[in-house]
Amino acid sequence: MKLTSSCHRFRGLTAVVIGGGSGLGKATCWRLASEGADRVVVADINSGAAEKVAEEIGSAGGSAEAVQVDVTQQDQVQQLFSGPGKEVDVLVNSAGTMWTKSFAMLQLADVRETFGATCDGLLLAMQHASQAMQQKPSDAANKFAIVNISSTAALATMKGLTAYSAAKATIRSLSRSAAVELAPYNIRVNTILPHGTDTEGVRAFVANLPPEDVEFFTGPAGTPKLIPRAAQPEEIAAGIAFLASSDASFMTGSEIVMDGGFSIQ
Ligand SMILES: NC(=O)c1ccc[n+]([C@@H]2O[C@H](COP(=O)([O-])OP(=O)(O)OC[C@H]3O[C@@H](n4cnc5c(N)ncnc54)[C@H](O)[C@@H]3O)[C@@H](O)[C@H]2O)c1
Repeated sequence: MKLTSSCHRFRGLTAVVIGGGSGLGKATCWRLASEGADRVVVADINSGAAEKVAEEIGSAGGSAEAVQVDVTQQDQVQQLFSGPGKEVDVLVNSAGTMWTKSFAMLQLADVRETFGATCDGLLLAMQHASQAMQQKPSDAANKFAIVNISSTAALATMKGLTAYSAAKATIRSLSRSAAVELAPYNIRVNTILPHGTDTEGVRAFVANLPPEDVEFFTGPAGTPKLIPRAAQPEEIAAGIAFLASSDASFMTGSEIVMDGGFSIQ
């Protein structure tokens, strides 16, 4: 890949992308580096994936550093934002996994695990990143932005996604609450609701589906879109970069749905 953009909205800024080793997070790391970020911290539980992304961005002339972090673990998140992510100006929360189980079979443990994986880490990252932002000189303050990744599953759920949809809906609420409480510190918090994007994570999810469900999750009948194709991660990363940039300086507590027209039907 190449760093090609002539737009430099992130020059002078440090970005931390949690879940940066794959999919939407990886595409976001590339986008922010392309747009001149001083440093992109590629934070992921999968250290090999994070290192590969950071190395490739570095080889292309960007500045990136890999950090292994399990964002659900408070001590690890604290270390991230007191160490490599201390200078954070932009935080993107893209960590997550998708799985499916029918409503009838769902166990409380499944729900707790999903909320832990989806919401705990996002809350911890927002808390520690915003504390680090507040330690920075005040002339940096108008650049602070947090972008969280929810899902159209929070708007229009599908069978088998009860726990995932509920957790993704909670992200919308957490984002709005954080926007309210962090506004006095000039930290904007916004949310992207993507749908049907061709990522490593989605491919793994589909590969593990029972054959009878594959068409439902991937085919036109299951998820009809006005734009009848999967999104590319780079298309979603463009929306994430917009919300993270000063082009969105009057947006906080807002959401952008990027779903090829899925959720309006
Ligand atoms: N791809 C889509 O169609 C789609 C649609 C809607 C929402 N989303 C959401 O976007 C986000 C990214 O999804 P993706 O498709 O890029 O998935 P992906 O699996 O390709 O990437 C997710 C990354 O998060 C990392 N991760 C998982 N748990 C972690 C943890 N505890 N700590 C740190 N890193 C962790 C994984 O190692 C992986 O690198 C997820 O929150 C997902 O729910 C994706």
